[in-house]
Amino acid sequence: MNTTQADILVVDDEPSMRRYLQTLLEVDSYHVTTAQNGVEALRQLQNGHKPDLVLLDLLMPELDGLQTLERLRQTHPGIPVVMLSCVTDTRKVAQAIKLGAQDYLTKPFQKAELDAVLTHCLSQRSKSSGEVAETGEVEELSDDQFFVAASPAMRKIRAQVAQVAQVDVPVLMLGESGTGKEVVARLIHKLSPRADRTLLKVNCAALPADLLESELFGYEAGAFTGATRPKPGKFELCDKGTILLDEIGEMPPALQAKLLHVLQDQQFSRLGSRSMVKVDVRILAATNINIPEAIASRKFREDLYYRLNAFTISIPPLRERKEEIPLLLRHFMGLFATRYGRTPLSVSPNLVEACVKYRWPGNLRELENFVKRYLILGDESLVLSELESKRRGEPLLDEPAPEIPKERPADLKSLVRSLKDEAECEAISRTLRQTKWNRKEAARLLNISYKALLYKIRQYNLDRS
Ligand SMILES: Nc1ncnc2c1ncn2[C@@H]1O[C@H](COP(=O)(O)OP(=O)(O)OP(=O)(O)O)[C@@H](O)[C@H]1O
Ligand SMILES: [Mg+2]
Repeated sequence: MNTTQADILVVDDEPSMRRYLQTLLEVDSYHVTTAQNGVEALRQLQNGHKPDLVLLDLLMPELDGLQTLERLRQTHPGIPVVMLSCVTDTRKVAQAIKLGAQDYLTKPFQKAELDAVLTHCLSQRSKSSGEVAETGEVEELSDDQFFVAASPAMRKIRAQVAQVAQVDVPVLMLGESGTGKEVVARLIHKLSPRADRTLLKVNCAALPADLLESELFGYEAGAFTGATRPKPGKFELCDKGTILLDEIGEMPPALQAKLLHVLQDQQFSRLGSRSMVKVDVRILAATNINIPEAIASRKFREDLYYRLNAFTISIPPLRERKEEIPLLLRHFMGLFATRYGRTPLSVSPNLVEACVKYRWPGNLRELENFVKRYLILGDESLVLSELESKRRGEPLLDEPAPEIPKERPADLKSLVRSLKDEAECEAISRTLRQTKWNRKEAARLLNISYKALLYKIRQYNLDRS
């Protein structure tokens, strides 16, 4: 991106400050828009204005800078924000940085300071933006999610995604569990003209047929007992956006017919209503089942399949793109170290070799959990011997019976929280077993205080049995 043509939104309640910044920036041929408070800024963004950077005053009446920043991070995580503060605001500035502001300027500032901050933030942005995919193997999807593509197969998928993102056709993502179907769907949305609108995910396997129907299509008051008020479904909520129908292979046949209708005419009716609702929604679907088999056994409608598979992306399992393993190990290590506030551990040649040998039936999700476990346990030889036992197909001696897979929450924050809890609970129980429930020793191995361990044991309801 040419930084001098960048579009900058200035949010400040002081008219003189807005004028001053506007003049300075326009002299350097930036394109400038202004807003006199947080509410107005958010409204501009909601209306589709997408600046390359926001200069945001900290102290404003009504919605202050921090509150505005918080909302901005949720709705437009990709736009860098620079805070405008006063000398006395240090605590608020620190909070803003925690909330995701890229940088700050203390009023009154010199033009040179402004220039330096803008150049830095705008060049960061162009590095992480999707348009320059060839240069990087890791690209940012949102604050905490990335797309890694380092093998020829994944680069090809990256290129296909860039093309199909532009055209409003449905896309079907196929691949084993944990290969990254959802990540690819998010990338499609991010590179599409709908990127500013929402992407909603619905897990078709998570709900019984009638609940799934009301979730997707909504209902009118009185449609069934308990329906006291009308409620729009996900299709209406993401009008102009994208919907990801996850595990579409599990969608009940009756609903498949209704979905087919939406695909054909972009319209449907709420439960209990006769009138049609028209929506403009891009449909992405993902599944790990073998669809031709499901069609043969009449679990899946053939006509729906032909509608959905106008464009299919088959994501290869990790064992077929093992050259990505070293990069993925380092990437996940950095990501989780940051997320859990830990120092990243070294990814030794030994570790890489063992990981390349292993087949990863759970694909990237399994690799992620492996890295989390290593990070939490901090013991390379321990995780390597576990991997070796798995590789030999032996059940781990002290491994508990395999769990029934849990349904994961759809919302990203809860998902991250639940994954973290899972990894943490697993690491703690293993260490306790390893130390024969010597809790002092376990706390030492886990590198947490004894008190924190006791608290966690209670939190996760762990006991010797
Ligand atoms: N290309 C990738 N780059 C970085 N991380 C990835 C990539 N692919 C997958 N992941 C990570 O691996 C995990 C599994 O990915 P994802 O949820 O997209 O898989 P999935 O195919 O939808 O799995 P399932 O069928 O079990 O729902 C996620 O945490 C995701 O962030
Ligand atoms: Mg998925």
